[in-house]
Amino acid sequence: MSDDFDRIVAVLQETINEDTRAAWGEEAFQRWVAPPNRGALENADGSSLLRGTCGDSMAIFLRFEGERVGAASFETDGCGPSVVCGSIAAEMAVGRTAEEILDISGEEVLARAGQIPEDHHHCAFLAASSLHEAVNSHMHPGPKDG
Ligand code: FES
Repeated sequence: MSDDFDRIVAVLQETINEDTRAAWGEEAFQRWVAPPNRGALENADGSSLLRGTCGDSMAIFLRFEGERVGAASFETDGCGPSVVCGSIAAEMAVGRTAEEILDISGEEVLARAGQIPEDHHHCAFLAASSLHEAVNSHMHPGPKDG
């Protein structure tokens, strides 16, 4: 019984993977399976947490080294495309100045994502907005506790 259930789950998962790979392309699929830069960043000196109109959240963490971002990461509770786009947005921030990051648009994130379905294009714009918000928090830090 348990073996049958496990086999059914494995077949379903493989079907989902194949459908996703066909719809998104290999690069976005691989990024969804193993997203680089996922998870909170220790000692971040810029961060954000935005909720999109879809109800999903996207966090971006930035650590600056001098004028440029030395490390960046993201976290999301959203859909697969939001994972792909958050990973891309964090990657695009590395090596750039605050001003250069503010120039990164949702369209650019979307273009790098590849074949994200049209009804998920907003996920790229959520990632870009969250990236901008993280820069704003770096440029205009709030009052410190204590
Ligand atoms: Fe909400 Fe993708 S971020 S549907």
